Amino acid sequence: MPTKIEKDAVTGQETTGHEWDGVKELNNPLPKWWLWTFYATIVFGVAWMVIYPSLPGWKGSSGWVAREAVVADVAAAQAANAPMMARLREATPAQIAADPELRAFALAGGRVAFANNCAACHGAGGQGAVGGFPALVDDDWLWGGSLDAIEATIRHGIRTAEDADARNSAMPRFGLDGMLTNNQIGDVAEFVLWMTGRATHAAETERGRVIYAEQCAACHGATGEGNRELGVPRLSDQVWLYGSTKQDVMAMVRNPRMGVMPAWQGRLDPAVINMLTVYVHALGGGE
Ligand code: HEC
Ligand code: HEC
Repeated sequence: MPTKIEKDAVTGQETTGHEWDGVKELNNPLPKWWLWTFYATIVFGVAWMVIYPSLPGWKGSSGWVAREAVVADVAAAQAANAPMMARLREATPAQIAADPELRAFALAGGRVAFANNCAACHGAGGQGAVGGFPALVDDDWLWGGSLDAIEATIRHGIRTAEDADARNSAMPRFGLDGMLTNNQIGDVAEFVLWMTGRATHAAETERGRVIYAEQCAACHGATGEGNRELGVPRLSDQVWLYGSTKQDVMAMVRNPRMGVMPAWQGRLDPAVINMLTVYVHALGGGE
């Protein structure tokens, strides 16, 4: 490292003393336009810090805070919607569905409320999810697809202790409680497959038919049509909560899984429950 300042012979400029393979770096001054832009950004930054809330505890000389601005915007939007929300709160879902203006508002609001509260279980578009979360876009209803039935389901929930009026029912634990042997469970599962044309063992199916009539028909119906009073699913279709294979059916008969849905009354504004009712009803399968 040379210590004394060297001058470049060609340009007369000082060098930095750095040298690569005989090429020396000149110590040119920074361009003026660059330097002044640099100073300007520092001035701008300091001014910004003074005017806006940029440091912990410093609200800024302007008094403008993004968080407060959002709160004010939300309050203004709520105030603007208040008359409409009051109408939605007082009307029944049937009245909302019949009024084009209320219905349009309910569908838009219902979509947002559904995304916030329901999509985690029922899917973003209400398409349902494997493992007991029913699709809400089809016309296959466990508890009913009328406006009244949907409203009752949303308001009170299903098999939840939160609400005394929750929809309730339970399938017996045929395997776990020793009501049926493993062979009998296999037979009745074969008969359940038979109902959708998928049975492969004739003898099992016939034994299963007898067991089904004795143990299952009271809830699931003589021909597997289900029962909405008890939220009992139809077994004679292609829609399954917990899976369609023989193993899935046998698992269900051994130790049934019972779907639980929270009650939304008390959690959501009654106007929002009405909007959700109209929205779910309009998803495709409303009756
Ligand atoms: C924690 C999960 C969960 C959340 C959140 C949830 N649900 Fe459900 N929902 C379920 C389950 C599970 C069932 C089926 C219960 C059963 O097996 O009977 C169900 C059933 C339903 C049904 C009845 C469907 C039928 O076929 O009769 C409706 C309607 C419904 N939910 C609407 C909603 C709405 C609207 C929301 C949002 C406000 C919501 N759910 C939020 C889990 C959930
Ligand atoms: C006391 C009424 C009751 C009886 C008896 C009953 N079930 Fe069920 N079963 C239900 C209910 C309620 C459900 C729905 C559970 C849920 O929604 O989470 C169900 C669900 C099922 C399912 C799941 C369907 C799906 O979509 O995934 C199968 C399979 C089933 N039952 C088979 C049977 C068989 C086979 C028998 C007879 C051995 C039987 N059940 C007896 C009430 C009953």
